[in-house]
Parts: sequence; structure tokens; C-alpha cells
Amino acid sequence: HHDTKPFVLFIFGVTGDLTRRKLMPAMYNLYRKGFLTRFRIVGFARRPWSTEYFREQGMQMLEGQPGSADLKQQFIASLEYLQSTFEDPAGYERIESFCDGFRHRLFYLSTPPASYQEIITQLGKHGYGDNPRGFSRIIIEKPFGRDLASARELNQLLSRYFSEPQIFRIDHYLGKETVQNIMMLRFGNAIFEPLWNRHHIDHVQITVGESLGVGTRANYYDKSGALRDMVQNHLFQLLSLTAMEPPSSLTAEGVRGEKVKVLQALRPITYKDVNQYTVRARYTAGFSEGEAAPGYLDEDGVPPDSTTETYTALELYLDTWRWSGVPFFLRTGKRLARKVTEIAVHFKTPPLSLFTPDLPEQAQNVLVIRIQPGEGITLHMNAKIPGHENAMRPVNMDFSYGSSFGIPAPEAYERLILDAILGEATLYTRRDEIEAGWKFVTRILSGWEKMETPVVGYPAGSTGPELAKLMIGRHNRRWRKL
Ligand code: BG6
Repeated sequence: HHDTKPFVLFIFGVTGDLTRRKLMPAMYNLYRKGFLTRFRIVGFARRPWSTEYFREQGMQMLEGQPGSADLKQQFIASLEYLQSTFEDPAGYERIESFCDGFRHRLFYLSTPPASYQEIITQLGKHGYGDNPRGFSRIIIEKPFGRDLASARELNQLLSRYFSEPQIFRIDHYLGKETVQNIMMLRFGNAIFEPLWNRHHIDHVQITVGESLGVGTRANYYDKSGALRDMVQNHLFQLLSLTAMEPPSSLTAEGVRGEKVKVLQALRPITYKDVNQYTVRARYTAGFSEGEAAPGYLDEDGVPPDSTTETYTALELYLDTWRWSGVPFFLRTGKRLARKVTEIAVHFKTPPLSLFTPDLPEQAQNVLVIRIQPGEGITLHMNAKIPGHENAMRPVNMDFSYGSSFGIPAPEAYERLILDAILGEATLYTRRDEIEAGWKFVTRILSGWEKMETPVVGYPAGSTGPELAKLMIGRHNRRWRKL
């Protein structure tokens, strides 16, 4: 149990959806669990709210959270509102007056990314990057840039006013309990690591499927697409954790230093190869979540000439001794058959099968790390069917968080915010990781443009485009069932 130092958290863009859904509940739950001693939350936004109104809103944001109304009121009493546009220097001058009695500060950028530059510059110019009396940290929501150039620019701007240890770039996947468990599984057990390489692993599949469509977010999403929205950050984090070498320590520098090497070892996909190693697709009308669903182009706010992909699949190779020749198949999409995030490590078949050709049921051993839902780990293996014949069938060894621990995992944001307050950056992305990810992804994006890679369709509610099946099928492999 950690004690946090007294601090003020400034949330820029506090009237937005993220505060309501994630930040306020996360802060409240940290408070409820006793992690926060003295603190203040200052909402910084344009809308003409008052502190009183912010507190009323805050109370509503806690609906459905555990704890008494009294406890919630106590928490809410720490909320203050600072009304200002992001351009107005007067707003930033008032920051100081909200810090009376507090030495430590965190600035949380939860605004549309178009405002990041302005806010960072203003904070910097007003001297908030330095804080001789305590810490000063900046937390930045995704998306962090939209290609390599813009990500670099943002990093450069940040580094003018903040040093790397003061900068916390959010990837909420790293806050997920099951994602943190990948390292525990690999390095806290002796039996997996010796097999975790090209000699024993046939291929790896990483899937992040969603059943929902773009919803009301077309404005953001159409300028992004699956590659930017999911692969550059979340899928690359899963890939890094799965493929990294053991770090020499669990410090932020130790872990992130190993993770970034994975991204740096990715064999670049040049434009000539882009149609072979990537799939670009979007959903067409179909049936999803129990009802008829429109195609992406018919969603509200999507321009008719959009070429944005809502699905992408990639075949990747890591040029390292450990992984040389082992394909990593990644796929992510909206409006797929179901919501599932998992990493499936497919092992090679035994060198000699004593049981074939009579027993075609013999399957590869697969270790499935279920990130969500049904959080847990399953090992698929083959076993003899009881009886006098030599019959075999795949069976499962199962670990499930629910039944093993019986306590709910904290929300990703709870852990992440607590870590930022404690100055612990292991679960935040470092500058070089962000840039290595963008470098790879930007090359694909320009390859698609140059090759005029078609955006193929897949029906809403399906398991994805045919082309993705062909891509993995070239190797006589198949996607796991969605
Ligand atoms: C966000 C993306 O980062 O992650 C969304 O912008 C996506 O498009 C979401 O839906 C998925 O997160 P989770 O935690 O539901 O897997």
C-alpha cells in the first residue's frame, strides 16, 4: 500500500467524455481505497461551469460506484473548476492560485489532440514545467500524433518544457491487469521461457476484435482508422510484451528498454510488400449485436469518399535471434463477430506423430492469453479419449481470474493514474517506443496510398474479410475462431 504525496491534478478538457467515464471514477476509487491523502482536482475547460456545477456533475459521474453518499461527498469537495479557453494566458496564470498549500502538480491533457500543442506551450511558457518545490508531471491521452512526423513534433515540443521522467503517455491497455500479467506469466514461471522462441513456436496471433461500430465517434475515427487507432498503440504494446527479452529489472527503464527493441526489430513493410503483408478493410452492412447494422460509409459523419479502414490484419516478422522466421499475425477491427482481445501462441507440432494418419484431431498446442473478456489463460493440448482405442482429442487446461482470485481487477485508469501520482512510468509509453511504432505504421499508411491498396469489405458482425483469411492461409495456418 503506497502513500501518495499531496497533489493537485489539473484536468484539461474536463467536460469531456473521458472524465465522466474513466477519470472521475478512477480518482474516486483511489480515494475510497485510501491511496489519496490530500489532493485537489481542478477541471480546466472552456465551458461556463462553476465549481458548484462541476461538483454536481462529478457526483453524477460516480453513480453506480461503491461507497456511501457521504464518502462521495467528501471526495467531491476536492473538486474545483477553472474556466478558461486553452489560448487565454490569464487561465494559466490562475493555475498557481489553485495550488495554495500543495507543492506537487499533475497536468492531464484530456482534450482533442488539436489542443495539445497550445496547452503544452502555454504550460511551458508559464513555467509549469519546472517546479522547484515539488513534482510537476504531464499526462497525455491518445492519440499521440497521427504519423511519425507529428509524433516527433509533439515529443520535441514536450521536451522543451518537460524532461522525459515528467512525461506520462497513456496507453490504457498497459493499465489492464491481464496485460501486466503477460510479463508475470513469462518471467515468473520457469516452464514457458525455454519454449518461447523460434525452435518451439510456430506462430503467434494477436487479436483485438470489437463488436461495436464507430458509433458517434466518426469525426475522430475517420481521420484515424484501425492502424492508427489500435495497432500503433494497443496491439504493438501486446506484441512488445509477448516478444520482449527478459529485462534485467522491473524498472521503467529496464522494461521499456526491452520493449522498444521489439518494435525496432520489426522488419519494415515496404510499399512493394504492402499488399502481401497487410489487409485494409471496412465493414459493410450486416447484422451485429442482435440487430441490423449499417455499413461504415453509411454511419453518421463518415464522408462518402472515405478510405478509412475499420479493420486491418498484418503479417509481421521480428528480425532477432529469438524470433527469426516466426510470423506474428495481428488483426483488429470494429463490427466483428464479438469483442475479444487475446494473444495466442501456437506451438510447433511434435517432430514425429505416432498417432497420425489415423488421428487427424491432433492439434497444435496453443497457449491463449485472454486479455478480455473471460480474463485468463488456456493451454490447448491433446489427450487420449478413455477407452480401448487410441483416440485423441484436444482438451484445455484453464486458468480464470474470476475463479482463482474472486476479486475484481481495478480499472485500467485507476492503476495508471496512481502510477503517475507515484512517478512510476513502467506502464506508460516512452518517447522512443512511440516513435518506433509510428515509424512502422507510417510506412504502411504511405504504402497503401502509393499502391492504392483497395479497402475491401466485410459484413458487420462477421469474422472479417476473406483477404485476411487468405493472408494467413498462404502459410497453411488459420485464424483462431472469433
Ligand atoms: C481506444 C480506441 O483506444 O480503444 C477505441 O480509440 C477502441 O476505438 C478502444 O474502441 C478499445 O478499448 P478496450 O479497452 O475496450 O479494448
